Amino acid sequence: MGMLEGKVALITGAANGQGAEEARRFAAEGAALVLTDIDEGNGRRIADGIAAAGHRAVFVRHDVAEEADWREAIDRAVSGFGGLHILINNAGVVPRRTLQDTGRGDWDRTLAVNLTGPMIGMQLAAPVIRDSGGGSIVNVSSVAGLMAHYDAAYTASKWALRGLTKTAAVEYAPWGIRVNSIHPGQIEGTALFGSASPELAKSLRASIPMERAGTPRECADLALFLASDASSFITGAEIPVDGGYAAGSTMWMRQQLKSRLTDG
Ligand SMILES: NC(=O)c1ccc[n+]([C@@H]2O[C@H](COP(=O)([O-])OP(=O)(O)OC[C@H]3O[C@@H](n4cnc5c(N)ncnc54)[C@H](O)[C@@H]3O)[C@@H](O)[C@H]2O)c1
Repeated sequence: MGMLEGKVALITGAANGQGAEEARRFAAEGAALVLTDIDEGNGRRIADGIAAAGHRAVFVRHDVAEEADWREAIDRAVSGFGGLHILINNAGVVPRRTLQDTGRGDWDRTLAVNLTGPMIGMQLAAPVIRDSGGGSIVNVSSVAGLMAHYDAAYTASKWALRGLTKTAAVEYAPWGIRVNSIHPGQIEGTALFGSASPELAKSLRASIPMERAGTPRECADLALFLASDASSFITGAEIPVDGGYAAGSTMWMRQQLKSRLTDG
């Protein structure tokens, strides 16, 4: 028996990076999948590949900032697979702008995708998950939702998503729905990671106690755990997947500096 046998999952931002890996991982564990993204080419390719391997997956073009798109995606879960148990709010954008350089356009779009999208998704999906017998929602925040980050709009959106997760966890507990946030650090093999300059990526990596970036697979494993009944008493939690960055990047860098100064 797979960990998600008999479950129906909707994953946003599933065309690339972590979302695509979660799709493959969840399918292998028995879930039927509605995969959504604004990137139709890659989204259909991922869904077709999963279906060709004998699993159940459909792709729906879905901008998470658009309520009508949400309704269509959730309807596809119900009409195609008979209900919905798992929502992974994974889609995200990063404008990479300082507070001083953040224009209203960047601000509004980042909050619309990273925060309002998950909010609409939870509002519309939660009653359906309740009526399907309960389930799990995973909100993909970031270490930028736990500490300061260069990007003002991104940081604000990911902190807010972390807070919204806690409210949702309490509100939806009576409906049998658990809600948790995950906080990736540097995750290689994603467009988001690739959008950082090589200098920024190198300096960020130097502050990770485990001395490496993470992989989409490591994020998918955490999302799978939280989506499955293996985490049946966990709700309202915030879990970093970051090689120790949030726990102790300052201490780590201080140690490195100290040993360099001592060597010198
Ligand atoms: N990669 C990292 O280092 C990192 C670190 C911390 C947090 N995260 C978070 O992880 C999540 C997944 O990102 P990723 O790392 O896989 O990066 P990615 O850029 O490879 O994937 C993001 C996906 O979201 C989709 N998307 C963007 N806007 C959308 C919209 N309006 N509607 C629907 N889909 C949309 C993109 O098309 C893409 O497929 C994001 O929420 C991101 O903020 C990533």
